[in-house]
Amino acid sequence: MFLDIKTKTPRLMHISSKILEPNTENITLCADLLGKGEVVALPTETVYGLAANGLDPIALRKIFEVKGRPLIDPLIIHFKDLDSALPHIQANAHVEALAKAYWPGPLTMVVPKKSSIPDIATACKDSVAIRIPANPIFRAVLKPLAFPLAAPSANPFGYVSPTQAQHVQHTLGSRIQAILDGGEADYGLESTIIDLRPSDALRILRHGPITQEQLEVSLGCPVIDQTTTKSNDRHAQLAPGSLTQHYSPNTQLVLMPLESTRSPKNNTTDAFIFLKKPSNNSITEHTYWLSDSGDLKEIAHNLFGLIQQLDQMQFDRIHIQLAPDTDLGKAINDRIRRAAAKFN
Ligand code: TXA
Ligand code: MG
Repeated sequence: MFLDIKTKTPRLMHISSKILEPNTENITLCADLLGKGEVVALPTETVYGLAANGLDPIALRKIFEVKGRPLIDPLIIHFKDLDSALPHIQANAHVEALAKAYWPGPLTMVVPKKSSIPDIATACKDSVAIRIPANPIFRAVLKPLAFPLAAPSANPFGYVSPTQAQHVQHTLGSRIQAILDGGEADYGLESTIIDLRPSDALRILRHGPITQEQLEVSLGCPVIDQTTTKSNDRHAQLAPGSLTQHYSPNTQLVLMPLESTRSPKNNTTDAFIFLKKPSNNSITEHTYWLSDSGDLKEIAHNLFGLIQQLDQMQFDRIHIQLAPDTDLGKAINDRIRRAAAKFN
C-alpha cells in the first residue's frame, strides 16, 4: 500500500504531546522561548529543525545536548534574508548569484565567518554554513527575533531526519518544550550544501533538492562533487557531519538495485520499498512504494516518512530500491546508502 499501512499499527511512545498548531499565539510563544535561550522544533521546507539562538553559546549547547550530537559537527545558521546575514559573513559574487537564484529555499552556503558567530556553532571552524529558509511558519517565528536561528535536523544524532511534527514528538518530544506543526515538509530531504569559500574550486558537500547541474548553470562554472571523497583526501573533512553512516533506522536496511521489480512471494518477515508502484501481480502484503508514478520529487518527499513508519513495525529487514544516480536521484541515493551503511 502506498503510505497506507493497514497490516500493522505503529508502536508509539506515550509522552504528552508538544505539537502546537502554527497560529499567531503559538508562533509568538515559540519566538519568546527562543528569546529566553530555549530550544524548539520548527518546520522548514526541507525537514524539521531544532532551533535555538544562533548567537548565544549557551542556547547552542542545548541543541547538541538534546540531539546527542558531537560538538565537532557544526550547525547551519538560518537568517531572515541575505542583508541580515552580511554582518556575520564574508560574502562574494558566488554567494550573491546563488542567493538571487535559490533563496529563500533549500540551499546552504559555507562561507568565511566573522567573530559574531560563536565558535560552538561552527565547531571552531573559520567558516559558517548559512541558509535563508522559505517555510512561512519558520519565517514567521524568525521575523520578530533580533538574532538568527541555528537549526540542525530535529532528530537524535544518526537517526532518520523528521519530515512531520509527529516524528519529532516521537523521538525528542520529552526533551523539548514545543514543536510547531507545519504538516509534511515539502522537499523531505535536507538542503544542498555548497562550499563557496575562495579556493581552487567550488564544492558540493551534501546533495539535496538543488542539484549539482542547477548550481553549475547558475554559477556558470563546474562544481566538484565532494560528497564521495575518500577520507585521505585533504578536503574530506570539509563537512564533518557528513558521516558515511547516518540517517539510520533501527531495523536493518538492505539495498535493492534499481532494476528490482518485485518482492519475493513467501517472505512475511521483511518489508520491500520500491520507488514506483510495481505491477499489480507483483504486489505482496509487505510491498510499499514511494510514488505511484516514480516522480523523484514525490519519492524524496515520502522517503524518510515511510522509513520511519516501517521502522515502528518490527520487520526483520526493510529492503529499499536505489534511484537512478542523476539529478535528485543523487540526493535520494545518498540518504539511502548512508542509512544502510551501518548494517553492511
Ligand atoms: O535542510 C537542512 O539543511 C536542515 C534544516 C533544518 O535547515 N538542517 C540540517 O542541519 O540538515 P544538520 O545539522 O542536520 O546538517 C548540517 C550539515 C552537517 O553535515 C554539518 O557538518 C554541515 O552541515 N556543516 C555545518 N557547518 C559547516 C561548515 N562550516 N563547513 C562544512 N560543513 C558544515
Ligand atoms: Mg541532520
